[in-house]
Amino acid sequence: MKWYDIFSTIYDSSLEKLYFESRKRAVELLDLKDGQTLIDIACGTGANFKHINALNLELDIYGTDLSEGMLKKGQTTINKNNWNNITLFQADARELTPSLIKEQTKQDLRFDRVICVLGLSVIPDWNQVLDKMLDLLNENGVIVIVDVFAEKRNFNTWLVEKFARADLNRKIWQTLEKKTNNFHYEFLPVKESKVGGKLFVATGMKK
Ligand SMILES: C[S@@+](CC[C@H](N)C(=O)[O-])C[C@H]1O[C@@H](n2cnc3c(N)ncnc32)[C@H](O)[C@@H]1O
Repeated sequence: MKWYDIFSTIYDSSLEKLYFESRKRAVELLDLKDGQTLIDIACGTGANFKHINALNLELDIYGTDLSEGMLKKGQTTINKNNWNNITLFQADARELTPSLIKEQTKQDLRFDRVICVLGLSVIPDWNQVLDKMLDLLNENGVIVIVDVFAEKRNFNTWLVEKFARADLNRKIWQTLEKKTNNFHYEFLPVKESKVGGKLFVATGMKK
């Protein structure tokens, strides 16, 4: 069993408080409108969905993750809440292409919005994965990324990296800035000691 399958059993109860506000901010920055399609990449247990569906918009939402355990938790939450606008499927983000998505969902999909929270610090080859995410966007589509960067490394950085199987040295927002228009980023008010570095949200529009 892979690490995130095991982690899924305690993930929401151990971490949600820390990231709750950042999810709300990320959803604000998505600037969603009725009729749009959205994909949450490395969606985990689907912790973003309650913030998205709280907007009460007509949205077509997809979530994808590599871990079966995380997705099972997510599906349970979806079922409990009767969120019938959300479809989950298992995939490696490094292999995400429109044709793989068609195979999984039986639909020819491109997305108006992509969100990825705490995924790009974990997924290997994150640069290429970011390109794939941008490829999935419609023209003028918007991407929102939340992640952590450790400017000064300390014991907590090491601990979070071990626990989350993450690399907090990735300057993800800098790469996003080069690849998008209307780029914006901000640091979020969460103690660095709690998350191993600076928590940031970054957004841009497909070029
Ligand atoms: C720190 S968790 C974040 C989960 C969720 N986005 C959230 O905000 O709570 C990292 C997630 O990345 C997923 N992941 C790791 N490697 C992946 C890959 N190659 N493709 C897709 N998902 C991956 C893990 O299964 C896990 O759910």
